Amino acid sequence: MGKAVFVASGKGGVGKTSLVAGVAACLASMRFRVLCVDSDVGLRNLDIPLGMTDVTALDLGDVLRRDAALRDAAVEHPDIPGLFLLAAPPMLSAEETAVLPALITYAAGRFDFCIVDCPAGLGETVRAAAKVGAMGMIVATPDRTSLRDAEAAARLFESLGPKNQDLRLILSRARPSLMARGDAPNADDAIDAVGIPLLGVVPEDERVISSSNRGEPLVLMRTDGAAAAYLRIARRIAGERVALAPEFLK
Ligand SMILES: Nc1ncnc2c1ncn2[C@@H]1O[C@H](COP(=O)(O)OP(=O)(O)OP(=O)(O)O)[C@@H](O)[C@H]1O
Ligand SMILES: [Mg+2]
Repeated sequence: MGKAVFVASGKGGVGKTSLVAGVAACLASMRFRVLCVDSDVGLRNLDIPLGMTDVTALDLGDVLRRDAALRDAAVEHPDIPGLFLLAAPPMLSAEETAVLPALITYAAGRFDFCIVDCPAGLGETVRAAAKVGAMGMIVATPDRTSLRDAEAAARLFESLGPKNQDLRLILSRARPSLMARGDAPNADDAIDAVGIPLLGVVPEDERVISSSNRGEPLVLMRTDGAAAAYLRIARRIAGERVALAPEFLK
């Protein structure tokens, strides 16, 4: 049985989709078979940082309605063997959303990792995802509003999932100088605010934006900055003992 991982946040635009693309590409380069599920209904965009726009006519909705099999709807990356994308549908009914937990469990049985890119906020898709009881990565930027919303997301996952659910915090778009000066919450402050352990810190890195705009997966181009952080996070979720980024622990 593979591992299902949900990537959620309270606040939007914190870097979830970029993180999913980066971490999934790293896991695939470590020879795992990885399925990325874009569950951002109506706002699909995981295909962009993966460099997989217009590769599929089928999506998550087709699979949930049983109009298509998962193996037909999930498309393999042209340059990263073992990395598959299931695109987000334009819309989902309540009945279709209710099938999502079963599909994620099924997919986790067929891949080494099934990583679900959730929409921002605490809507129906996220609530359905939380019920699977899989590992949850809650993403926040190091600022008080984002951390407060991440705390609400963490409590939602705790209330809907099983006891002792594996929830981890990712600090995204972090700026070490701001944190060191005390002008932004540091790693300890963030852990205290959200109340879950820290899995990784992704630095602010303009190449995340430029590589996404070019449709070139960042981790194929770079091994530093955000790309290095995505690799560290991938190795940690694969069970390796890897230190947190040292520049954020001063
Ligand atoms: N580490 C980073 N450094 C710089 N820019 C980043 C970083 N991570 C993400 N971004 C940029 O921030 C914007 C939002 O990122 P992304 O789409 O990954 O966030 P999201 O949390 O998935 O958003 P949404 O809540 O809308 O789904 C994008 O323009 C992306 O390129
Ligand atoms: Mg997103």
